[in-house]
Amino acid sequence: MAENIFEIEKIVRKNISNLKAYSSARDEYQGTRGIFLDANENSFGSLIHNEYNFNRYPDPHQKLLKEKIADIEQINVENIFLGNGSDEAIDLLFRAFAEPNMDKVLYCPPTYGMYEVSANINAVEIIEVPLTADFELDIEKILPHLTNPNLKLIFLCSPNNPTSNTLNVKNIETILKTFKGIVVIDEAYQDFSKQISWVKNLSNYPNLVVLKTFSKAWGMANLRLGMALADSKIIDIYNKIKPPYNVNGETQRLMLEGFENKSRKYRAVDDIIAEREKLIDRLKNFSFIKHIYPSETNFILVKVENANLLYDYLISKQIIIRNRHTTLLCENCVRITIGTNMENMMLLKALESF
Ligand SMILES: Cc1ncc(COP(=O)(O)O)c(C=O)c1O
Repeated sequence: MAENIFEIEKIVRKNISNLKAYSSARDEYQGTRGIFLDANENSFGSLIHNEYNFNRYPDPHQKLLKEKIADIEQINVENIFLGNGSDEAIDLLFRAFAEPNMDKVLYCPPTYGMYEVSANINAVEIIEVPLTADFELDIEKILPHLTNPNLKLIFLCSPNNPTSNTLNVKNIETILKTFKGIVVIDEAYQDFSKQISWVKNLSNYPNLVVLKTFSKAWGMANLRLGMALADSKIIDIYNKIKPPYNVNGETQRLMLEGFENKSRKYRAVDDIIAEREKLIDRLKNFSFIKHIYPSETNFILVKVENANLLYDYLISKQIIIRNRHTTLLCENCVRITIGTNMENMMLLKALESF
């Protein structure tokens, strides 16, 4: 057990502590049989006639889906929050724990852009502690901030987007043990990495929130489903403040259907990793490629001679990559998602004529 004495009551915003959560029709009556005249739905049906009852609100607690996820992640349903993408899980943390125009968030650029956007939407001051030149946490520069009473949230992305590396475990442990606010570890890309998931540590750290998404390895980006896994006290707060029907019924149904084909996910991860290694090998032969950073994700960060020129050239060939040239520490870098074998071959063919 970690030494950190984390008290959630001390960091949750007062208005959230005092909040009386909205009680939806489906909260007040949870049976599935009867004549439902309680939610002002359209009793005559919907635009689409099938067995899925689009005219009815979905389960606000996503019970069946959470039971399945609990089984997969080897945790309890009480430790799971499901959101409209992990972006919703990020935003709700600000609303729960960071007082606008008073509290602060810390993250380490270059990293996923939504931490900054969510902080700005919620009027929360940002402390940026850039990664070191080798994309590691600059722990000596982070430590002095951990005792700042207004620092409520720390976002760590591991494996990190766009640098594609995992962050040093010892440094993360130090932060988890020292900081008395919420430490978020965004594991959107963890499936592609050798690093084991921090979910295994949830019982050791009551201040830990692990973010996961179904948009990457699971191949379900269109459904918009992400999750926060944490101590039940943190999940209770999520549930108190989330919009009642934040995960739509089709997403719940289709994800449950998708779980029937779980083996496809594992195969896709293996295929993507194999393609990643092949692509890295081939890219090494181009003289305009200066460095390919080691990747534990489904993308690679590549330093080239002139990122703007390369980006424009590939666009002219209708191959779209991400230009990260203006991102901190990523001068002349591009981020390339690993495609199918055919897509990667076409990328390589185009690069031959660059
Ligand atoms: C690190 C990271 N976290 C979260 C997300 C967003 O995930 P979702 O699709 O679940 O909102 C992304 C998307 O690119 C990401 O790179």
